[in-house]
Amino acid sequence: MNLTLNVWRQKGPADKGGFVTYEMKDINHHMSFLEMMDVLNERLEREGQEPVHFDHDCREGICGSCAMHINGRPHGPSKGTATCQLHMRLFNDGDVITVEPWRAKAFPVVKDLVVDRSAFDRIIQAGGYVSVNTGGVPDANEIPVPKKIADEAFNAATCISCGACVAACKNASAMLFVSAKVSQLALLPQGKVERKNRVEKMVAQMDAEGFGNCTNTQACSVECPKEISQDFIAMMNREYISAKFTSDNL
Ligand code: SF4
Ligand code: FES
Repeated sequence: MNLTLNVWRQKGPADKGGFVTYEMKDINHHMSFLEMMDVLNERLEREGQEPVHFDHDCREGICGSCAMHINGRPHGPSKGTATCQLHMRLFNDGDVITVEPWRAKAFPVVKDLVVDRSAFDRIIQAGGYVSVNTGGVPDANEIPVPKKIADEAFNAATCISCGACVAACKNASAMLFVSAKVSQLALLPQGKVERKNRVEKMVAQMDAEGFGNCTNTQACSVECPKEISQDFIAMMNREYISAKFTSDNL
C-alpha cells in the first residue's frame, strides 16, 4: 500500500518543530507500525538525512516505550493496543497518517517523537514500592491472597507506564497511571503496611510534576493500551481521603 506520513520533527527541546511529509511506497500490510517507521528511517539514512527519533524496546506491548500519537489518538486507532502491536493492515491504501509525540507539559519533547517521561519515574520513587521486610521470596509468596483480590491487583499491575492516559486527557492528568500503581500495592497484604504514606507521597509528587486534575471524561481508560479501569481512580481517591484523615504527616 502507498501512504502519506506527516511526522513531527523537532531537533531538540528548544526547537519549535513542525510536520514533515513523507510519501511511503509499497508498504507491506503485514508490517507493524514501528516496522513501517523503520522502513522510513532506513530510507532517510540512505539519503543522508537524520532518521526520525522514536522510543521503542520490547515491541511486544510490555515495556511502554513506544509512545506516539497516530492520527490524534495515543497508540493509534486500535483499542487496547500499544503502537508496537499496531499493524498496517488496519490502514488503507492512500491513507494520510499523522504521527506526533505525546503533548503534555510534564512530558517535554526531547527530540522528534521522544518525550521525557522521567516524571513517572519520580512518582514511583516517591512511594511506588514495598520496603517492609516480607522475609525471603518463598515467605512472601506464602501469604494467602484471595483470588478476587489477586486478580484485581494483577489488573492494576498490567499498567506499562506508557503515558497514553496523560496524552489522552485534556488536563494531562496522570491519575490513571498513579491510581494503577497505588491500587496494585494497596490491594495486597505486603503493600498495606505503607499504604497511607505511599498514596500521600505519590499524589504530592504527581501534583509537583505539573500533571492536571481528573475531570472524569474517561478518555484515559479508553485510550489505555492495557484498558486500565477508571475504578482504580475511585480506589485511589478513597485511599487518599482515608490516609488524610489518619495521616502520620498531619
Ligand atoms: S494507565 Fe494505561 S495509559 Fe496510563 S501509563 Fe498505564 S498502561 Fe499507559
Ligand atoms: S515497544 Fe515495548 S510496549 Fe511497545
